[in-house]
Amino acid sequence: MKSTMLITRFICLCFSLPIISNCLAGQEVVNVYSFRQAELINPLIEKFHAKTGIRVNIVSGKADKLMQRLIKDGKNSFADVLLTVDVARLDKAKELDLIKPIYSLALMENIPAHLRDPENFWFGLSLRARAIFYDKQSIKATEILNYKTLLAPKWQGKICSRKGSHLYNRSMIASFIFHYGQNWTKDWVGKFSNNLAMRPNGGDRDQLRNIARGECKIAIANSYYYGMLFASDKQSDRNVYQRVGIVLPKTKKIGTHVNISGAALTSAAKNKVNAIKFIEFLTTKAAQKIYANNNFEYPIRPDMPIGSLLSSWGNLTADTQAVHQLPNFHQQAEEIILQSNW
Ligand SMILES: [Fe+2]
Repeated sequence: MKSTMLITRFICLCFSLPIISNCLAGQEVVNVYSFRQAELINPLIEKFHAKTGIRVNIVSGKADKLMQRLIKDGKNSFADVLLTVDVARLDKAKELDLIKPIYSLALMENIPAHLRDPENFWFGLSLRARAIFYDKQSIKATEILNYKTLLAPKWQGKICSRKGSHLYNRSMIASFIFHYGQNWTKDWVGKFSNNLAMRPNGGDRDQLRNIARGECKIAIANSYYYGMLFASDKQSDRNVYQRVGIVLPKTKKIGTHVNISGAALTSAAKNKVNAIKFIEFLTTKAAQKIYANNNFEYPIRPDMPIGSLLSSWGNLTADTQAVHQLPNFHQQAEEIILQSNW
């Protein structure tokens, strides 16, 4: 039922905009499956259309739903481009032959090698940082400088987190296994879950709200959720932002765990040239400014300045070494997490 809805929305979009004649008259188009809602990338679509004359049709949905749809449709898929999140998911799409490589100098130049697939199947578009948050009224940032500091006995019953098995946490744990090995990571997960204030529940933003409600003192969450609270229409969310502080973790060995949102050309792409143009466009400076900023993520390009809000959170030392390795350790990460109460 849901997948029917997805495709219906796709067709409706084509018919609901002035695109109807374009769709039918064969105007240049590119069809995009996007985890990010159409409203969030509309400014990009408009810019791209103004520049190239190519119409972009967006089907938005949850990342897993879009993957399922691609798998189900196979060669008959309408999608030319997949915009999704997490290296493990992009790697899965590669493994399942849902995407194919792009050989593009622009993509190679604009995206650092560690943030794109070595065989050019997928390309990072923004960086997502998993940060530590704390109650500014009772904790100092210097007490929680990195992930290991969260294991101190003094934090027992004071930490909030969404479920350990969520992809965001699984990827972070995969990065720990890559850097420190299984035993270190098992120890980390065991002690971390012992320090939890409550049974994991809700999403990342809920954990920050829990801090503001006094239900815990520390939380782990992706940093863009903090930005969303800052920009929220609700005063209560903006109050959470004021009460909660952020630390971008760093040790001598590793920085902050990061993952990416990324793009890939689908194996079924019928508008391949337009699809490549669109993905290349998303890595231009003008597009990066919008693509990263509208969701409070970090730009993929090292030559892009970050906005004043993200600058105020401190310097991000991204753990870029682990990015390619994350999918290799997901299974082990899952097993370790399942053995805990997280
Ligand atoms: Fe998210």
